[in-house]
Amino acid sequence: MPEIKNLNRAESRDARLSREAEGKRKMFRTGIVLGMVMATSAATAADVVSIEEGLRIATIGGCHDCHTEGFAENGGQVDLAKALMGSHVGFQGPWGTTYPANLRLTLSKMSEDEFVRYGHEVKTRPPMPWFGLHAMTDNELRSIYQYVKSLGAPGEPAPDYVKPGEAPKTPFIVFAPPQIPAN
Ligand code: HEC
Repeated sequence: MPEIKNLNRAESRDARLSREAEGKRKMFRTGIVLGMVMATSAATAADVVSIEEGLRIATIGGCHDCHTEGFAENGGQVDLAKALMGSHVGFQGPWGTTYPANLRLTLSKMSEDEFVRYGHEVKTRPPMPWFGLHAMTDNELRSIYQYVKSLGAPGEPAPDYVKPGEAPKTPFIVFAPPQIPAN
């Protein structure tokens, strides 16, 4: 649009520079406001400690996948009667055979603060992704704690760990690298 071009050309150098600076200031201000809005909403999500938030974190953290029997077979429906009570289907690999623990029992022996400390330090055998717990905020661990405590009676422990080379008495899933022929 030639008219606008002409207008711009007619503008003095100082006027143009100050107009550009004002544009940059506006963009900068918008950036700050957007940043504040994003920081506020992020802070809100992380600040909420609740049973519902614990269920949400346990769901996206995959805890039910291993620690709730029948979860995967149910198409991801959480059966609250069995939720996080552990599994008698083992995972076998070079580490032996491990069983997803009954988290209701584990947490029944800890206070909320103890669980937060434990969550930041725990290391287990595979395939428990303990590093995922380390990456959680205190409040996320608190929400998980409250969710697990809101579930029913703890029930029975999962079967004991079985050493490598010993035969498990339960069904188990084998985690083994593929056997690649030498030639
Ligand atoms: C891939 C399967 C898997 C997933 C996913 C998983 N776990 Fe585990 N978890 C296990 C297994 C197996 C063990 C037992 C490890 C062992 O015997 O050393 C375990 C152990 C634990 C323990 C130690 C319990 C105790 O009594 O010592 C905690 C706590 C735990 N899991 C919490 C969680 C939480 C919270 C989540 C979700 C964020 C989760 N796990 C996701 C498989 C899993």
